Amino acid sequence: MTVPTFPPGFLWGASASAFQTEGAADTDGKGPSGWDAFAARGRIKDGADTTRGTGFHERYREDVTLLAGLGADAFRFSVSWPRVVPGGRGPVNAAGLDFYDRLVDELCAHGITPAPTLYHWDTPLPLDEAGGWLNRDTAYRFAEYAGIVAERLADRVPMWITINEPAEVTMLGYALGEHAPGRTLLFDALPAAHHQLLAHGLGVRALRAAGAANIGIAVSHTPVWTAGESEEDRLGAGLYDTLTNWMFADPVLTGRYPDEGVAALMPGPVEDDLRTISAPLDWYGVNYYSPTLVGAPRAADALDSFSGFTMPAELPFGIREIEGYEKTDFGWPVVPDGLRETLVQLRDRYGDRLPPLYITENGCAVDEAVADTRRIAFLEGHLGALREAIDEGVDVRGYFTWSLTDNIEWTEGAGKRFGLVHIDYETLRRTPKESYAWYRDVIRSQKANGSAD
Ligand code: FCB
Repeated sequence: MTVPTFPPGFLWGASASAFQTEGAADTDGKGPSGWDAFAARGRIKDGADTTRGTGFHERYREDVTLLAGLGADAFRFSVSWPRVVPGGRGPVNAAGLDFYDRLVDELCAHGITPAPTLYHWDTPLPLDEAGGWLNRDTAYRFAEYAGIVAERLADRVPMWITINEPAEVTMLGYALGEHAPGRTLLFDALPAAHHQLLAHGLGVRALRAAGAANIGIAVSHTPVWTAGESEEDRLGAGLYDTLTNWMFADPVLTGRYPDEGVAALMPGPVEDDLRTISAPLDWYGVNYYSPTLVGAPRAADALDSFSGFTMPAELPFGIREIEGYEKTDFGWPVVPDGLRETLVQLRDRYGDRLPPLYITENGCAVDEAVADTRRIAFLEGHLGALREAIDEGVDVRGYFTWSLTDNIEWTEGAGKRFGLVHIDYETLRRTPKESYAWYRDVIRSQKANGSAD
C-alpha cells in the first residue's frame, strides 16, 4: 500500500446523487425533475433508462451494506427535491421524505455518517418550466425545501451540503445546453449562477433555523492552465478561471464577485444578496477531476474536459486538449498534482477566511468491468497529492470518492463508469470491483495507523 497516512479523525467516504442512482422516477408521489424531462426528450446519448437508474431507491439497503463493507465513515448522497416537494412549491410528499428517513436510519444503524446534498441538479419540473435558476423565485423555493428536509432529518444528520457544482449547472445547463434544462444562453446564463448562490445562502439560513449544523457546499474546482503566450491567451484563461472557479467561490467565501464586470451582469439587489450568500460556513467542499487548459478562442474549439463537444466560436476563450497525460474514458487528463494545486490555490487566495475543506468528489470513468487497475492508480495518485496539500498546510478533513457504484453519468448515460462497484444495468446486480477492495484496505490501514477512529 503506497497511500500515506492521513491525520487523526480524517473522514473516508463515497459520494452519489439521486438522479444518477435512485430510479423510481414516479414512485410514491415523486414529481418529474428537469432531468427526467430532458431524458424523455432523448437527450441521454446512449438512451440509458434514467427512470430505473441503478435501482438505488429499492436497493439502498444493499448499497449501505456495501458502504459498511468498505468501512466508510460517511456517505454523501443527494435528496431529490421533486421527491420531497413534487410541485417545487406547496404540498410536501410524505412518502418521499419517508424514503430519506429510512435511508438515514439505515446508514446510522451501520455507523455511517449521512451527508446529504440538497440540490444535485434535479430541479422540480414546474420550477424549471417557470425559468429554473433564471428565476429568482427558485432560490426561495429551494430554501423552503431545505428547511423541510432539515426539520425531518437534522436530529440524525450531522453534515449537510446545500448545492452541488453551481458552475456546471450554469455552464452546461444554461450556457451551452449540454445538460438540463438545455438552455444555450452563453453569457445570458449568468443569472442562473447568482440565483443558485442566493439559494445556497438562503438555504444555509433555513437549515440552521431548522436545527441543522455543520453545513457546507460542493463546488467544482479546476486549475486553469494558460495555453500559449499571447495576451489573448492570458485573457481567455483568466476569464475562464473567473467564470468557472472564482465566480462561485468568492461570493460564498468573501461576499464579493471576483470582478466588477461579472457583478454588473448579475440580477437583483446584488450587494444585499452577497451578504446572504456569504453566510459563514462550517466547511467548504471541493470537487476535483482535472485541470483545464485555456487560451484565446479558435474557430472550432472542443471542450475536451467535458465530453468533447464543440465550444461556440463566439466565446472569448478556447479550451485545448491537455497533452502528455493519461486520459480517463471521458478524455479527462489524469493529473493528481492538480488536486494539490487547487487546494493550495484556495488556501493562498482565502487565507483565514477558508473554512476546513473536504474533497466532496474525486474519481474517474474507466471501462474496466471489475479489474479496474486504472481507477486504483488514479485514486492512489490523488490521495498522495491530497496528503501533500495537507503537508503544505491546507486543512482538509475528509475525502469522498466519486462514486460508490457506477451510475447514470448525466448526458453520457450508463457508459461512463465511475463506481467502486460495477452495476449490470440489465439485472441491477452489484459487483464490487478491485478498487472497492483496494479502498477498503486503504481505510482499514488508515484506522490501524490511527488516522481515524
Ligand atoms: C460531477 C458531478 C457528479 C458526477 C461527476 C463525474 O460534475 O457533480 O454528479 O457526474 O461529475
